[in-house]
Amino acid sequence: MITPAPVAECIVLQDCIQVPSTPGKSNGPFLLPNLLFGYSDLEPYIDQATMMYHYNKHFNGYMTNLNNALKGTLSANLTELVLNPTDSTIRNNGGGFYNHGLFFRIMCTASRSETPSKLLEDAIIKSFGSMAQMKQQFAAQASSRFGSGWVWLGVLPDGKLGITTTANQDTPFMKVQDIQYQLMYPFLGLDVWEHAYYLNYQNQRSSYVDAWWNIVNWSQVPKKNNSHPLHKT
Ligand SMILES: [Fe+2]
Repeated sequence: MITPAPVAECIVLQDCIQVPSTPGKSNGPFLLPNLLFGYSDLEPYIDQATMMYHYNKHFNGYMTNLNNALKGTLSANLTELVLNPTDSTIRNNGGGFYNHGLFFRIMCTASRSETPSKLLEDAIIKSFGSMAQMKQQFAAQASSRFGSGWVWLGVLPDGKLGITTTANQDTPFMKVQDIQYQLMYPFLGLDVWEHAYYLNYQNQRSSYVDAWWNIVNWSQVPKKNNSHPLHKT
């Protein structure tokens, strides 16, 4: 029998990227959130050019496509869109916008990375044995993802923490017909699409994954939100 870990109830990420429509700035319900750092601030772990293209082209592209799909809609719940995508456009671009919103918010310059909160560290140790073992499992999932996708650390329905991977721009709580993901509410996600690392690391995805831990903004991982649909299951 799995013992629930109530502590995890308090460390669930808040949605950060649902913003009201601003006339003149967007033709749909979503806006691109500001970066919390400069393009070069993550060097040498992620280079400036990668950050510029990733934020301005890829992240912005998902937002633009999502807004175009929702044209005329003044407000929308991003989590609900991603939970039950109505078509492939919403699945790919809603997922892409959600995933990148999380990814860009949980990074910072290495000098500010610090360490996980005691609450989170205790939950990680309880679920994986140690921080090192958690990172080993995370790296293994990153290596196992064939092609493009994501690796996630999050809360499972039983309250424990888990690690999983999703394809393309899917999220772990997305309900889709063709893939059955392990239900999870992610609070830390790593983009393992080649656009996230190829300029600096070429085919060395594992080096990128290892380096990435140096720029995780642990102060942003995670915040409380018990209103997420996962908590209603
Ligand atoms: Fe990306």
